[in-house]
Amino acid sequence: MRRPFIAGNWKMNLDRASAVALAEGLVKKAAGTDGVDIAICPPSLYLDAVAAAVAGSNVALGAQDMYHEPKGAFTGEISGAMLCDIGCKYVILGHSERRHVLGETDEDINKKVLAALEVGLLPIVCVGELLSDRKSGTTMEVIRRQFEGSLAGISAEQMQQITIAYEPVWAIGTGEVATPQQAEEVHLDLRKIMVQRYNDEVAEVVRIQYGGSVKPDNAAELIGQPNIDGALVGGAALKVDSFIGIIAGAGS
Ligand code: PGA
Repeated sequence: MRRPFIAGNWKMNLDRASAVALAEGLVKKAAGTDGVDIAICPPSLYLDAVAAAVAGSNVALGAQDMYHEPKGAFTGEISGAMLCDIGCKYVILGHSERRHVLGETDEDINKKVLAALEVGLLPIVCVGELLSDRKSGTTMEVIRRQFEGSLAGISAEQMQQITIAYEPVWAIGTGEVATPQQAEEVHLDLRKIMVQRYNDEVAEVVRIQYGGSVKPDNAAELIGQPNIDGALVGGAALKVDSFIGIIAGAGS
C-alpha cells in the first residue's frame, strides 16, 4: 500500500513572516497526523526560516526547483547540495510553470532529476498536458513524452526515490479540477508506462500525486482513486486550514 503524500507548493507567494507563520501553524495542526507524508515547498529565499519552523516535526521541507550543476559560476542559481544543506528532503522539478513560463525542456528537467538524486534529494517530477492537448486527444502522448524525456537514464532503483505529479495544466490555479475519473485514467496509464519501462514492483511503489485545483472538498474523492496517491497543492496550500483539510482527506 502506498502511503499518501501531500505536498504544498507555495510558488512565489508570501513574505518571510507569513511563510514562517504558515509553517508554524501547519506544524501545530499536523502534529499527530499519522499515515500521510507531508511536505511544504516555500520560495527558496524562505527555506532557511521555514526549515527552523518545521524542525523536528512531521512536516518535511521541499524546494520548488534547483539547478543541475553542483557549484560554480551560475549566477542566481541554487544547487541540490545547497538545498540539502538547508534541510530539504524533496525538490519539485519540471513544474508546468517552469516548463511553460520559464521555458524548461524535458532535457533540462532530466539533468536536474539526475543531479537531485545524486545528492539524495527526493524529486517530485511534474507532468501534464495543455488544454489543447486534451482537446486534440493527445494527452497520453504528451505525458509519455514528458515522462520518458524527464526521466531518461533513471534506473529502476532511482525511480523508486521519485514521486510523479500529474498536473493537467488547464486545472492549475483555474479552479477547474480534473474529475477523479479523468485523473485516475492518466494515473493508471502512468503506472502502465512504469510497468513497461521498469517492472511491476517499481510501478507498485512509485507514488503519483494529482495536482490542479485540489481543495479540501475534492481531495478525498481524488485521493480515494486506486492510483492517486496524494496531491501537489498550490493555492489551497497557502492557508493552514485548507491544507490541513486536504491532509485529512488523504488520511480518510
Ligand atoms: P493549484 O496549483 O492547486 O493552485 O491549482 C497546483 C500546482 O501548481 O502545483
